[in-house]
Amino acid sequence: MTYNIDVNLVNTSRLSEIDFDNIPFGRVFSDHIFIADYYDGAWRDLRIAPYQPLSLNPATAVLHYSQTIFEGMKVMANPEGTPLLFRPEMHAKRLNRSAQRMAMPDVPEELFMQALYELIGIDHKWIPSGAESALYVRPVMVANDPYIGVRPAETYKFIIFTAPVGAYYSKPVKLTTLDKYVRAVKGGTGFAKAGGNYAASLLPQREAQEMGFDQVMWLDSEEKKYIHECGTMNLFFIIDGKVITPSTEEGTILEGITRERFIHILRDSGYTVEERPITIQEVIAASENGTLQDMFGAGTAAVVASVELFHHHGTTYKLPPVEERLISKQLKLDLNNLRSGKVTDKFGWTHPLKVLQEVI
Ligand SMILES: Cc1ncc(COP(=O)(O)O)c(C=O)c1O
Repeated sequence: MTYNIDVNLVNTSRLSEIDFDNIPFGRVFSDHIFIADYYDGAWRDLRIAPYQPLSLNPATAVLHYSQTIFEGMKVMANPEGTPLLFRPEMHAKRLNRSAQRMAMPDVPEELFMQALYELIGIDHKWIPSGAESALYVRPVMVANDPYIGVRPAETYKFIIFTAPVGAYYSKPVKLTTLDKYVRAVKGGTGFAKAGGNYAASLLPQREAQEMGFDQVMWLDSEEKKYIHECGTMNLFFIIDGKVITPSTEEGTILEGITRERFIHILRDSGYTVEERPITIQEVIAASENGTLQDMFGAGTAAVVASVELFHHHGTTYKLPPVEERLISKQLKLDLNNLRSGKVTDKFGWTHPLKVLQEVI
């Protein structure tokens, strides 16, 4: 099915004002935005327009009860300059899993894809060319009813906007567990990319930073025994040559797209990857007996963030030097090469984008 998307282009692009060598993260946005309104049970008035503020009634439901979800992905260009979308359908599917949990309407996958392709086609010149730079894509859906009763809204906005971002140089991170807070509970919203999850993580994150760490390593809520994830990344452990990552079956962990790709690449390269519950005690024991070879976060932003150390109940455990961690180094390289079209994509993950429109 093809949707009818109304296109209203800017008169003058802001491209020439941007210093692509010094892009502050998340503050510079491309020329256009995609907007759709949901009312009377369907997505309507699909349009691409100049990037613009939204005007909201103060009673708008999302401002009060956080009925909002989002996605995040990166688009790079291959050496010939063709924009490459990387597994966009996975983001469409995850958006809809989040939507379902938050009692929001589905965005049909075809609509998501068409909107994405057209928007990026129009703003493709905003894809930075620097190594590891990318166009960050942010789809977001918000409850739009001007009504302060607590109930699922009847009207929504679905928006996609994009932002050029520079290379993300992630220095090795220091993690700490916290007894006082949890991120997700069974039956809760941990698997959803729902705004409220992030709001609730801000105070623990600040307290972890005040203690001298970069991010919180989240444990399960019931026993504080099982490791879930850290900050906004999934975690991988390499113990005695085996790769382990917490399973997502309980719905308490965000099913990262990077996580899923890494599992695939690792298995394809002959590694054993175990998706299973992993306890903090198992990781401590491995650290103490010298078999903990690597521990790293996986996510769209950093791709791989090596863990320098982790802290639990007053003791700090150090990881081996980053230079020795060849598997995660190779993983990052493999994924970046795939995303930027530098190697043949034998997995069929990249979607080259035919540029639909040019903005002069
Ligand atoms: C809580 C959380 N976990 C994990 C991830 C990693 O997911 P992805 O690889 O899809 O970026 C993210 C980032 O989006 C996140 O917010």
